[in-house]
Amino acid sequence: FHVKWDAAAAEKAPYPHFMLKEIHEQPRALRDTLRGRIEGGRVVFPELEEAAFHLRECRRLFLTACGTAFHAGLVGKYLLEKLARLPVEADIASEFRYRDLTLGPGDVVLVISQSGETADTLAALRLAKEKGAKVLAITNVVGSSVAREADWVLYTWAGPEIAVASTKAYTAQVLLVTLLALYLAELRGTLPSEEIIPLVEEVKFLPERVAQVLAWEEEIARLAQALKEQEHFFFIGRGLDWAVAEEGALKLKEISYIHAEAYPAGELKHGTLALITEGVPVVALATQSHLFEKMLSNIKEVKARGAWVLALTADDQAVAGETDVCFHLPPGNPLLMPAVAVVPLQLLAYYVAVARGCDVDQPRNLAKSVTVE
Ligand code: G6P
Repeated sequence: FHVKWDAAAAEKAPYPHFMLKEIHEQPRALRDTLRGRIEGGRVVFPELEEAAFHLRECRRLFLTACGTAFHAGLVGKYLLEKLARLPVEADIASEFRYRDLTLGPGDVVLVISQSGETADTLAALRLAKEKGAKVLAITNVVGSSVAREADWVLYTWAGPEIAVASTKAYTAQVLLVTLLALYLAELRGTLPSEEIIPLVEEVKFLPERVAQVLAWEEEIARLAQALKEQEHFFFIGRGLDWAVAEEGALKLKEISYIHAEAYPAGELKHGTLALITEGVPVVALATQSHLFEKMLSNIKEVKARGAWVLALTADDQAVAGETDVCFHLPPGNPLLMPAVAVVPLQLLAYYVAVARGCDVDQPRNLAKSVTVE
């Protein structure tokens, strides 16, 4: 009698892939990342005690990362500007390090890396320090190079992420940049506590909202079956929705090998609209109420060219009538939508890839951690 023991399979059980397991771990990852960081309607970061002076005084923030971590950074850029009134320059790490940056003492660089070992991100961190700037890192790995070399570290407690395509690390990063923006809003006095407290209290509901959206899994799997033959996808959104669209498109191309492009919806007419023809799938994110009317007209624009539109919205009914499929996210403050809105996009990418017979956890040509250039 011989039992074939596959340790990896045992760890991911009962899920067929690590990616699906990690998608489902998100409510837990968010709860762990939140733990001890909210007290009495305020964000507390004891690890930033020494950083507080620099973060209060700095006049701009540089932000750098690669891949999915960069997309979490884009969410951070919007929130830091909106809540903490801090201008943010966001740069892909491989661009950051080769541009002649106007960076020096008094500047703070926010580095985001799940693994803490990505070669370009680490080089960007070292460059920032060399120029006299302070580095605040968000990472998921205790003792990683980024954690060791940064001046201050905030950890995401997503747990080990095995699948090459990042999911739970992204949502935990998004949560942490949201908390950071709220923390800096208080520290820098840019938002009155009457506005900070309800937002901070609402953040506590994110794990629950993500769990609600995970319940759409079967419906998304059916949709994926119908979409699996498509070779092009477009993801559109404005503001925070555009940042999430970038991540949705990356997930799909990484694991299903479908050509996917994310576009700021208002930019469509400057080129991409030429590619919208009969039946082309467009995923439209419309969770930002102040941009809703604008998004609606972009949706009409693509519909008029024959696009098949899947919309993600928070509570507006109007968009449902204009689209082929419409998912209604649990209602809430638009600033907190990204961590929830990305989840159906992760599931869509996963099920399309499975339907196409792709190796979801180990996509071709890609590595979990890019430690060489
Ligand atoms: C690779 C992975 C991505 C990840 C990126 C940055 O490309 O496949 O999932 O987002 O590296 O990795 P990091 O560990 O720095 O977040």
